[in-house]
This record gives sequence, structure tokens and C-alpha cells, in this order.
Amino acid sequence: MPHVPKISMSYKEQIISDRMPRHIAIIMDGNGRWAKQHGLKRMFGHREGVRTVHEITTAAAEMGIDYLTLYAFSTENWNRPKEEVDALMALLVETIRQETPTLMQNNVKLTTIGDLSRLPEVTRTKFEQCLQQTAANTGLTMVLALSYSSRWEITDAMTRIANDVQNGKMKAEEVSEQVVSDYLTTKSVPDPDLLIRTSGEYRISNFLLWQLAYTELYFTDCLWPDFTVEEFYKAIVDYQHRERRFGKTSEQV
Ligand code: IPE
Ligand code: IPE
Ligand code: MG
Repeated sequence: MPHVPKISMSYKEQIISDRMPRHIAIIMDGNGRWAKQHGLKRMFGHREGVRTVHEITTAAAEMGIDYLTLYAFSTENWNRPKEEVDALMALLVETIRQETPTLMQNNVKLTTIGDLSRLPEVTRTKFEQCLQQTAANTGLTMVLALSYSSRWEITDAMTRIANDVQNGKMKAEEVSEQVVSDYLTTKSVPDPDLLIRTSGEYRISNFLLWQLAYTELYFTDCLWPDFTVEEFYKAIVDYQHRERRFGKTSEQV
């Protein structure tokens, strides 16, 4: 049955508190197009995107979501013009400096996934400081995917599994789904319940391929800088009216 909301209710009011997704992942896309629409350079779009990150993270923390994973920079994004890559790295440092007090205030713990060894030294150092500073926070865990791609992650996991088998730490027949999950960068994080992608693209772009096996997907045309907290609530309400069957029949669940 399609969900028919009462017209006068805001999306926030329609959220069912005992059906909250535990983990939401977001592909934050459309910063460049937003800038173009406004006759601005791409970097202005990225700056506006940071404001959205602030708002959505605060809303997620308030709602009591456990995990929020944000795709901030992919392995493939290293292939963008050097000027944009350098500016994005500088923006990351500035954002961390600016946002750490808010993370502390909202009890948010920052973690990262991705090949951080590729980040410039100053960016990496700044992140490590923030990771340490927020490590004891007990509210929302914010997982920032930086220099991340799922194929990189899976290949890295396979290499380490192969090494551990070769060194006798594990037998080949002991490699289970759980073992594979434990070798991924997301090992202590439950799989996402909901994936949101903004900007009207219907693709995964090398994000969490293993972890998204049974995630509910939500696509919106909204460009990331235009994505509001109300849009975020709307995605959650949509998710809450889906039936997650995990391969079973409707009668079984
Ligand atoms: C997403 O916005 C942010 C990053 C990938 C860093 P884009 O920069 O991809 O924006 P579009 O897709 O060009 O509009
Ligand atoms: C995906 O966006 C990566 C991030 C949001 C960080 P892209 O803009 O890089 O994705 P494609 O290239 O359009 O698939
Ligand atoms: Mg894009």
C-alpha cells in the first residue's frame, strides 16, 4: 500500500520513532551543478555543500541516528582537475577546524574510511586530531568516506585475507561472509539501512558495494547544497513505509 501522508503534517511529524534507520549513508552529489546554476565557480558549490553537511549531521544527531556515512571524496575524484582537488583538500582542513566544536557539542564521534595515505599531510594530520578529540563521544558516529572506493576497499581486504591464509593465521575454508565484513574498513559499523543519493543520478559510484546488499535506496533530484533537513526527514519517512523482506515472503516478515 503506498504511503499517503496527512497533508497538514510536516515530514518531521510523520517520522515513526520506533522505525528509525540505524545507519544512513549519503552520496552527496550535485555541488558543481548547483554552482553552475548560480553562475558561480564549482568551489562555491562545495562550500555550500559543507553547510548542508552541518545541517544534516546536526539533525541526525538530534534524531538519535547511530551512524551517518557521508561520501565526501572518491578514489576517482583524484582524477579531477588539480585546482579542484587542491581546493577540496584545503576546504576539508578548514571545515574540520570550524566544525570540531559543533561535533563536540552534539556528542558526535568522527571516523573515516578510505585510503587516507593519499591525502596531503596537513589534511591527514587535521583529521587525526579531530578523530582523537571526538573519540570518546557517545552519540552519532559520523563516518566520512575520503579517498574511498568500494573496489579499493574490497581489493585491500582480499589482499589481507590472502596474506593471513598464507601466513597460517586462518584457513581458506574459514573465510565466511562475516570474515570478509571484518576485513573491510567498515568492520565495526552495521550495514546501512538507507542510502540517499542527491542530484538525480541513479548510480552507486563505487560506494559501499558489499555493505549495500540489502540497503533501501532513495534518490532525489535535489542538488546537495539544496538538500534541506525537511528533505532528509522526507527520505526517512519514505524508508519507514517500505517492507524490508531480505529474501523472505511478505507473509514471513
Ligand atoms: C559532489 O559534487 C562532491 C564531490 C564529488 C566532491 P560534485 O562536485 O560531483 O557536483 P556535480 O556532480 O559536478 O554537480
Ligand atoms: C560520487 O560523486 C562521489 C562523491 C559524492 C564524493 P561523483 O560526482 O564523483 O560521481 P559520478 O562521477 O557522477 O558517478
Ligand atoms: Mg558529481
